[in-house]
Amino acid sequence: MKELQIQTSVKVYSYEELEPELARLVDMAKAKTQDAYCPYSHFHVGAAVLLADGQIVTGANQENAAYPSGLCAERTAIFAANANHPHTPVVALALACYTNGHFTKDVSSPCGACRQVLLETEQRFATPMQVILYCEDGCYVFESAKDLLPLSFAANNLIG
Ligand code: THU
Repeated sequence: MKELQIQTSVKVYSYEELEPELARLVDMAKAKTQDAYCPYSHFHVGAAVLLADGQIVTGANQENAAYPSGLCAERTAIFAANANHPHTPVVALALACYTNGHFTKDVSSPCGACRQVLLETEQRFATPMQVILYCEDGCYVFESAKDLLPLSFAANNLIG
């Protein structure tokens, strides 16, 4: 038997400490929470995706009376970016969550399915994707989507 230690790294910045480009991305994710369609959970999630050419694509969670038919904010943004800019790498994604009249105090991080999609996009473009999670306590910055999903399943696993 051997035991492996899997480590991941996240830096926590105050909003004021963020580089201006990332602060703007956070601002856009925060603003986008107001466009969420979330009549069931009342949990508003906004995402903003920065492309390598400087363009920004945004998304918000979309719920449905048939609950599993809804989609998280991250995937609405990433899929829109990839569908409309299929040759432009995604270099960063910012996320913000708003409920009960305020942005969440504690950090909320992407669900498992979204992590898988972020990882696929990062690997597809062979470009690290910074992930910035905004909450009232600070901005959690991952330098790569793979830091959110250790021991992941990806295209290389299909080779066997
Ligand atoms: N949600 C997101 O949009 N992103 C996440 O990372 C977690 C959850 C949405 C899905 C659903 O509309 C609501 O938040 C409550 O789960």
